[in-house]
Amino acid sequence: MDTMDKIVSLCKRRGFVFPGSEIYGGLQGFYDFGPLGVEMKNNLKSLWWNWMTREHDNVVGIDGAIITHPKVWDASGHVQSFVDPLVECKKCHHRFKADDLNKNACPDCGGLLTEPKMFNILVPTQIGVVEDDKTNVYLRGEACQTIYLDFKNVLNSSRLKIPFGICQIGKAFRNEVTPKNFLFRQREFEQWDLQWFCRPAEMEQWFEYWKAERMHWYKSIFTHPENLGFYEHEKLAHYAKKAFDIEYTASPFGKEIEGIHWRGDWDLSRHSKFSGQDLSYTDSETGEKFVPNIIETSGGVDRTFLFLMLDAYTEEKDRIILKLHPSIAPYKTAVFPLLANKPDLVHKARKVYEILKGSHQSSVVGSQLNIAWDDRGNIGKRYYSQDEIGTPYCVTIDFQTLEDSTVTVRDRDTAKQERVSISELKSYIVGKTVVPRKIERMPGA
Ligand code: GAP
Repeated sequence: MDTMDKIVSLCKRRGFVFPGSEIYGGLQGFYDFGPLGVEMKNNLKSLWWNWMTREHDNVVGIDGAIITHPKVWDASGHVQSFVDPLVECKKCHHRFKADDLNKNACPDCGGLLTEPKMFNILVPTQIGVVEDDKTNVYLRGEACQTIYLDFKNVLNSSRLKIPFGICQIGKAFRNEVTPKNFLFRQREFEQWDLQWFCRPAEMEQWFEYWKAERMHWYKSIFTHPENLGFYEHEKLAHYAKKAFDIEYTASPFGKEIEGIHWRGDWDLSRHSKFSGQDLSYTDSETGEKFVPNIIETSGGVDRTFLFLMLDAYTEEKDRIILKLHPSIAPYKTAVFPLLANKPDLVHKARKVYEILKGSHQSSVVGSQLNIAWDDRGNIGKRYYSQDEIGTPYCVTIDFQTLEDSTVTVRDRDTAKQERVSISELKSYIVGKTVVPRKIERMPGA
């Protein structure tokens, strides 16, 4: 079994990710996040959000609609250019993305393939209640478009001045010809985007700034940061003037996690033209008027999730460890009474559990942590179970605890144990969960 198959199996067995609509035989390209998966995904998203909007003073967020006016996708160029070359096997009629094939033969049955036909991957739907009077619309093919639509609203409702950024985490939909590689290429997925609006003359320096910032962010959450690299595109998307990908280089299939795109004034100019609205910016001090240029950082939440899992998956002689960064692990800590049949131990362990969760009066740090409770089987089995889902610390309440109010804390990666006093336990755990901080001062700051 290769690592990807092991990850897919672990994800289902332990409740990270389930195949979509499984009881009906599944639906290709769709997945559901289970109890542990949603915790990890939410941790990831809030890290990204906090880092973008709290660490960078002039970045704000929005949460835009998934369905927009249909003209948006004409203006964006997607109706015309968001296409994949599709080929069909003349024998078994399976369809493939021509870009994925090395030779002109069906990978399933060896049959001859048709000439490639261009296939638009926007997902259409209809709105309206009267059968003959429905409006054709699209589910958004990329999340960023709503940021351009709200550019003027954000500007007018805030005190932001150029340069500034608007960010968003949201779903995007693509009718991918061949969804594959688990979460890597789906038909419904989530993106985290920043659109950075700046003066045309300052594009170069901001492009370099965001390239370095985004790489730094990914490096601070991956187990093996050396597996991350840049790839420069030669073939550019219809809107791009320069494009780099941040890649997970150890991936055995596609490697792209995030695109850093120099979009110039394409988006605001096109939406100005198609909507008839002036989307230019006027400098309040100099009176200078111009269409802001845009640098985009657009990453996949689900792809990051998948690559983090692949990067963290470790097999040792007698255990499987998911060496996830503590800030993204579904549980921060697990609490065990040494023996489940000793009421004193269980009672004390329950108290420690409540303190760590933050729902106890004596909790020292305000934040609420997701804490696991386990009193089944023996300690060895509990450790094994927590290692496999990436819980960075296991806290055991034993007989010594009843005497001196200390507990053992076992580190997931080293399996080493140390004694920590209950009064310091929460600060100890929180202190180990260092979240990413920005590295560089912004140009001109
Ligand atoms: N607004 C620019 C844009 O959407 P993109 O390179 O098409 O650019 C950005 O998408 C990111 O979204 C990718 O780097 C990838 O992480 C993620 N992504 C794109 N298509 C995906 C798919 N079918 N399934 C999962 N993630 C996808």
